Amino acid sequence: MRIFLSCALVALLSSSLATNLIGANPTAPAEPENTIKEVMKKAHKEGLHKKVIGGEASAEEKAALLGLYIDMFEGTPKKGERDEWMMAAGPAVLAAGKVVAGREGSIEELKTAMDCKACHDKFK
Ligand code: HEC
Repeated sequence: MRIFLSCALVALLSSSLATNLIGANPTAPAEPENTIKEVMKKAHKEGLHKKVIGGEASAEEKAALLGLYIDMFEGTPKKGERDEWMMAAGPAVLAAGKVVAGREGSIEELKTAMDCKACHDKFK
């Protein structure tokens, strides 16, 4: 079940990334489950991201973080351009996906992918 879930998430992730990155004129995909604000609250204020980079998260929590970052990626920030937003948010989705898939070095990758201040300066 867990392996199936991870594969399904990775498949979802790659299809959504591919649609967005390959399309010459990227459009906003289906309405995400959480707004960017809700993602920030659930992933950051409530400490889920910290738990994952601390290496203390369960498989379900890692998958939950990936889900939140997919919503972040699919969301539209109030400030900034959508294509720049996808470039800023994309690496976090990819890194969170690698954490779910158990790739070596993925936690480190997730740490560098989430540059809170750089992204807030531009899009918040
Ligand atoms: C890819 C871009 C991006 C990254 C990376 C990012 N944020 Fe945010 N964050 C935003 C945007 C955009 C908003 C404004 C959301 C809104 O109000 O619509 C925001 C808002 C917030 C808020 C305010 C939420 C609220 O309730 O109003 C907090 C807290 C926050 N971020 C924490 C963090 C922390 C901590 C990190 C790093 C671990 C982080 N964010 C990384 C884009 C980002």
